[in-house]
Amino acid sequence: MTASVTQISPSSPSSPRPFHHPQPESALHCGKVSLETLAKRHGTPLYVYSADQIVERLAIFQEALAGREHLVCYAVKANSALAILKLLASCGAGFDIVSGGELERVLAVAPEAAGRVVFSGAGKTLAEIDRALTAGILQFNVESEAELEVLAARAAKLKTKARFALRVNPDVFAETHPYISTGLREHKFGIDIRRALGIYKSVAGNRWLEPYGVSVHIGSQIRSAEPFGAAIERVSKLVRQLKREGIALQVVDAGGGLGIDYHAGHFDAAAKVREYAEAVENALEGFEGRLLIEPGRFLVAQAGALVARVLYVKRNGKKTFVITDAAMNDLIRPALYQAHHEIAPVRPRAGRPRIVDVVGPVCESGDFFARDRKLAPIEPGDLVAILDAGAYGMAQSSNYNTRPRPAEVLVEGSKARLIRRRETMADLLWPETFTVEG
Ligand code: LLP
Repeated sequence: MTASVTQISPSSPSSPRPFHHPQPESALHCGKVSLETLAKRHGTPLYVYSADQIVERLAIFQEALAGREHLVCYAVKANSALAILKLLASCGAGFDIVSGGELERVLAVAPEAAGRVVFSGAGKTLAEIDRALTAGILQFNVESEAELEVLAARAAKLKTKARFALRVNPDVFAETHPYISTGLREHKFGIDIRRALGIYKSVAGNRWLEPYGVSVHIGSQIRSAEPFGAAIERVSKLVRQLKREGIALQVVDAGGGLGIDYHAGHFDAAAKVREYAEAVENALEGFEGRLLIEPGRFLVAQAGALVARVLYVKRNGKKTFVITDAAMNDLIRPALYQAHHEIAPVRPRAGRPRIVDVVGPVCESGDFFARDRKLAPIEPGDLVAILDAGAYGMAQSSNYNTRPRPAEVLVEGSKARLIRRRETMADLLWPETFTVEG
């Protein structure tokens, strides 16, 4: 049980979230825009993101890495909204993609950013490889010898050279949810770091492959800087060995994974990033090339909230259920990872807090946003904001229970822009047919 009621006070410079009450009696705002106004205009459930915070978070990384040549490649999977990709591209970000679909998104909004794209993922198809080669992406993060062979063959066919990095698995343990931990030998990701040297050497003379970098990604929502340092130390050792063998890599890609604080309270994002950057930099010892990082969550999670309307409040035995119009299909993190998200009433009511479950209308007991949570009184018709939902929220949404996905709004200063309209029933039904071909 969470002991305290989520307190959202007027935002301060160190506030980790852009959501705040400008006056004690006013509705919750994103920057200068009231969530009540947005909910009226666009309906609920509604994703609301602060462009200002996304830009600010990117700048924090760029400043912390300023001491060396670097590129922040935003992990598109965290939130692939075109408007967010466009925003980040305009601030000089690169992109970490894991599918042909994500590549198309980047190319659609920022074709000039093709040369800032790294392509990760353990199962790239031939078509995806061809498209990425033709687009001229920066680097393929290769996850197996078999994939490297395929990459060489496709590059030869297209008469172009493929820059690659082996994604090594450093066998480093990172404290996080088991579903999002990736850096141990038992995981499906990457190539055992002990085998990497041999693989680089074996393709050294291949005219279609350029050994360009080495990459590593140990998992997601990692709160401490220490495992990142440990992983990069192992990578640096490999880079030095390769150099002695005459293979000079230009890039170390440290992956993503830096975690945020999903709980209420003080969280100094800039200090966290500085600590992370220092751990990585210290571990790079003597490497003079370019550093790539692939943050997703840290850039967009706290910038976003899922705004929902309360449909019913009902009691079953000792329990009180607050039933919202948002559900697990809109935000699956609590159901999938037992993830904690703070829930803030948009217009808090006075009165004694109550212990409630906040749930959606989907027919599964796993359809909850909070269990046994102490919240200020809530009545049907009230709006609530489920916080820190900017990463892996809309990106992991579905149409389960034939529920149209939410609309999305991007707030910039005092302006709010609808960046994705709410799905209609027609959108959901059009790919299907029920007639029998004669
Ligand atoms: N690079 C690679 C190769 C990755 O696999 C990932 C995330 C990232 C970068 C970005 O990691 P981040 O900075 O966002 O932690 N759905 C889960 C998270 C899955 C992460 C998958 N890989 C969640 O909602 O917590």
